Amino acid sequence: MHSYFSLSEQYIKTVYQMSKPFIVIFLIVIILAACEKATIEPWNPDVPDNLNYTDHIQPIWDAGCIGCHGGGRAPDLRAGSCEKLNQGGYINFDNPEESNLVKRMNGIDHPYTSSPKDISYVTAWISDGAQCE
Ligand code: HEC
Repeated sequence: MHSYFSLSEQYIKTVYQMSKPFIVIFLIVIILAACEKATIEPWNPDVPDNLNYTDHIQPIWDAGCIGCHGGGRAPDLRAGSCEKLNQGGYINFDNPEESNLVKRMNGIDHPYTSSPKDISYVTAWISDGAQCE
């Protein structure tokens, strides 16, 4: 004997079975959306508004480069060498990321690889015209 109750129970079960795939898809979408949010963004430092050679770029050379580029090997990256650097063909103003300088910092044909932060500073400096002040 089927009571009204057991019929509706059967009905609910059937609806549940039918909607299972949709529930699963829905949950997957939610999880993917959550993961999308949690994905680590590529390094996007707040390059300082006042980014300038003296305060931000020369210190990068001082910390990482002058051990090898201290006068003996081109480019000379000691303080006071900026003019030579930005006129020496190391910089591609049309495409800063393709600059010889930036490529080397990325470790291409180069024994030393800079941090993403330093690379983004130098790339931004070039985009701003590679001023020497
Ligand atoms: C461990 C030593 C070493 C360090 C540290 C180093 N370099 Fe170099 N760099 C070299 C060598 C060796 C070459 C030549 C590589 C080649 O072309 O075969 C070179 C080449 C370059 C060139 C290309 C020169 C040219 O005439 O085309 C640039 C630009 C450069 N380095 C920039 C930098 C910068 C900027 C840093 C610091 C972020 C740095 N280097 C740190 C050893 C070093």
